[in-house]
Amino acid sequence: MTNVWNNPNGHEKRLHRHEGGNGTAGDALPGGGARSGGESLRTEPGGADGTPLLSVENLAVSFRTARGTSRAVDGVSFSIRPREIYALVGESGCGKSSTAQAVMGLLSETNAPGRRITGTIRFGERNLLALPDRELSAVRGSHIGMIFQNPLDSLNPLYTAGYQTCEAVLLDGLAKASAMRRVLELFRGVRLADPEQKLRSYPHELSGGMRQRVMIAMMLARHPKLLIADEPTTALDVSIQAQILDLMLELRRSFNMAMLLITHDFGIVSETADRVGVMYAGKLVEENEVFALFDAPRHPYTRMLMRALPRGTKQGGRLESIPGTLPDPTEPYRGCLFFERCPLRVERCATEEPLLRRLGETHRVACWRAEEEEQP
Ligand SMILES: Nc1ncnc2c1ncn2[C@@H]1O[C@H](COP(=O)(O)OP(=O)(O)OP(=O)(O)O)[C@@H](O)[C@H]1O
Ligand code: SF4
Ligand SMILES: [Mg+2]
Repeated sequence: MTNVWNNPNGHEKRLHRHEGGNGTAGDALPGGGARSGGESLRTEPGGADGTPLLSVENLAVSFRTARGTSRAVDGVSFSIRPREIYALVGESGCGKSSTAQAVMGLLSETNAPGRRITGTIRFGERNLLALPDRELSAVRGSHIGMIFQNPLDSLNPLYTAGYQTCEAVLLDGLAKASAMRRVLELFRGVRLADPEQKLRSYPHELSGGMRQRVMIAMMLARHPKLLIADEPTTALDVSIQAQILDLMLELRRSFNMAMLLITHDFGIVSETADRVGVMYAGKLVEENEVFALFDAPRHPYTRMLMRALPRGTKQGGRLESIPGTLPDPTEPYRGCLFFERCPLRVERCATEEPLLRRLGETHRVACWRAEEEEQP
């Protein structure tokens, strides 16, 4: 069976689905529903003309707190190409969500009083941080979509899933009857079983996986070029996680969407991402293509994170904690922020901050000892 998606330009996107499938995302995958990780979904380096879709330069986000100014994001630069899945990983509190929220424009003075944001967030030609609120809302509403760990927080408990998705669809200027048909089409596309009935369901009547599918449908209604997914499967059972990830990969292919994927889970990273940025204490400390990073991590923090994975799951598994804690983000610092926890530290690390620098064509690392082949 073939589902037909209509994009805003009237083009058709086709999702192939096997006859007799029960509506799971796995059924929708080409090649008999096998997991899609590591297969041909990975993008070629560079977009068609090598231009990034999103380019974040020297982003800094801080919050005013009772204890002083807290650095959440501290000089982060990365870019995402069209259709690329870029994963941000790192321990809790290292600044992943703050980065995503800054890109999404969610850190307004009203949402986050006392926050300070500097740097550049270029989406296509425009610097989002320099746009007036109305223009920013327009870019956000029509080009960037976001899904979160807990879809219940984003869904209105008082309205049915169909009504809420219809609101998003109506922004396209469709008539009500066409809009409801479009919602049904979206619900089918995100593999919601019995979609007609789901139109009439309230959020509390849906399972976690179903709610996340509704959120994805609402997001797709706006035809985004970039999807930001902040721990989109963390709250779900493992089997449902796999279905949602497969769905996201399939949608990336069908809609030519790029993704900024935030996760603690290296299994998810290895199965979905093209490139990975590792964050520590508000900074990007290592970046590489996903397989290259797994094969040869050069920052001691990345190596420790990988060593901390359960045995036999080098390319999968949840990120476990490593000894020590993040430095206090309100305290001034000198040298390398990983110093206290680093088994490789040398004198220089205490006083000179290692900046992110290129080690290879795709590889950037912020560590004085990154070149040393034989790291203890
Ligand atoms: N609104 C806020 N006000 C004050 N501090 C904040 C605010 N939002 C985030 N922070 C702080 O910024 C730092 C980064 O938080 P952030 O939520 O970005 O981390 P994270 O990597 O997404 O963590 P997690 O994996 O737990 O979601 C933390 O020290 C956090 O306490
Ligand atoms: S710069 Fe020094 S302290 Fe920092 S990660 Fe590298 S070796 Fe460790
Ligand atoms: Mg977070």
